[in-house]
Formats: sequence, C-alpha cells, structure tokens
Amino acid sequence: MVDDQPIALFNIGGKILAWDNRCPHRGASLADGNISEDVIQCKFHLWEFDTRTECAIENPTIKVKSYPVKLQDDIVYIDVPAVSDKT
Ligand code: FES
Repeated sequence: MVDDQPIALFNIGGKILAWDNRCPHRGASLADGNISEDVIQCKFHLWEFDTRTECAIENPTIKVKSYPVKLQDDIVYIDVPAVSDKT
C-alpha cells in the first residue's frame, strides 16, 4: 500500500512492473492472479492483461493503471503521485 493505493509489484523476467492491484473489472487483487511472462490473469473472472501493453487482451481499450518504476542498487522506487496531486 502507498497511501491508500494498493500496488502490485511483478518481476517479469527481471523487469519490474508496478500496477494498481485492483483489477479494472471488479477490483480483485491482480497479485493473487495467475502470473506468466506475457500475461497476468485475474483469478476472479479470468480477465487477462498483457504485461507489455498493460491492457486487457480481449479489449485493449481497458488499461491497467501502472506507475513508473526505477531500480537502483537493488531497491525498487515507485513514482506514485501524492494524494493531493490526483485530479
Ligand atoms: S475482478 Fe478481475 S476479472 Fe473480474
């Protein structure tokens, strides 16, 4: 959690992804889903998200909210806007 935002960190073949941990469908935890190199599948209704495009495979207009990540000295930094920065 960062402030009130649940964030899922995925290590996909060495690439770190920081995604909102709420499935765009009904908000289930994506971190609890099935994770492969190309696809993260929500465990609730099995929607699948492409790890490269961060979009739903069946409907690419649906995008997972993600955050920029920087890896420095084995520490993961996530650029999450402060609550007051949100519009
Ligand atoms: S809540 Fe994720 S597919 Fe329905």
